[in-house]
Amino acid sequence: MRKKIIIANWKMNYDFYETTSFLRNFLRIFFEKKINNNKKIIIAPSFPFLHVSNQILQGTTFSIASQNIYQMDKGAYTGEVSAIMLKSIGIQKVILGHSERRELFLENNDILMKKIKIALKHGFYIIFCVGEKAIERDRNEQFTIVKQQLFETVFHCSLNEINSFCIAYEPVWSIGTGITATSEEVQIMHKFIRNLFSDKYGKQVSNKLSILYGGSINDTNAKDFFSQKDIDGGLIGKNSLEIEKFLKIIQS
Ligand code: PGA
Repeated sequence: MRKKIIIANWKMNYDFYETTSFLRNFLRIFFEKKINNNKKIIIAPSFPFLHVSNQILQGTTFSIASQNIYQMDKGAYTGEVSAIMLKSIGIQKVILGHSERRELFLENNDILMKKIKIALKHGFYIIFCVGEKAIERDRNEQFTIVKQQLFETVFHCSLNEINSFCIAYEPVWSIGTGITATSEEVQIMHKFIRNLFSDKYGKQVSNKLSILYGGSINDTNAKDFFSQKDIDGGLIGKNSLEIEKFLKIIQS
C-alpha cells in the first residue's frame, strides 16, 4: 500500500500568531471531532516559525516541512538557511522544485540537484515538484517537460535515495488560479511519472512512490482527485490556510 500524503504549503502567508493559533486549533478540532485519517499530514510554515510549529506538533503524527533550503552547508550566504540549521531544530522534510522557486528565484535543475544532494546528505525527506507551464501544455509538451525535470534532477539519485522522495505534480497554470487540470488528465500524468520511475528504478520502487497532485485543490474537488488510482494525495496552497477547508480536504 502506498502512503497517502497531504501537504499544506503555506507559502509567505502566516505570521507568528496566525501560524501558532492555526496549529493549536487544528489539533484541538482534529482530536475533538475524532477525525478518521489514514493520511500522512505535513505542514510547511515559513522559516521563522518552523521551530515553534515543530514543538506544537510534537507527539502527534503530523509533521513539519521547510519550504526551501540553501544548497550549501554554511558560509557567507547572507539571508539563506541551511539543511544543518533546520536539522538542528528537528526539521527533516523539505519542499524542493516548487514552480514559484523555479520562476521567481531562478532555481534551475542544476541548482535543484545541488539542493537535493545536500538534503539527502542530511537525511531529509524531499517533496519534489514538477510540472509544465500553460504554454507548454498548449503545445502538448507536458510529458517532455516533466520527463526532463526528473531526468535532470531526481533521476541522478541512487535506488536507495529514491526512498526519501515523494513527487508532486503541479501544472504551473493551475497553481493559485482556481483552474485545475481534470482528474483524468492528472491521472494520465501520474501514470506517466510512475512508469518513468519503473523504467529507471524498477516496479517495486515505482509502486511504492507517492505521487501527489497540486494546483487549486479545494474541499469540493479533492475527492475526485484522490479517488484516482495513481494520485496519492495533494500539495495544497490557498485552501490549506483555512482549518475547516483543510480538514475537509484531509477527509476526502
Ligand atoms: P494552490 O497552490 O493550492 O494555491 O493552487 C498549490 C501549490 O503551490 O503548492
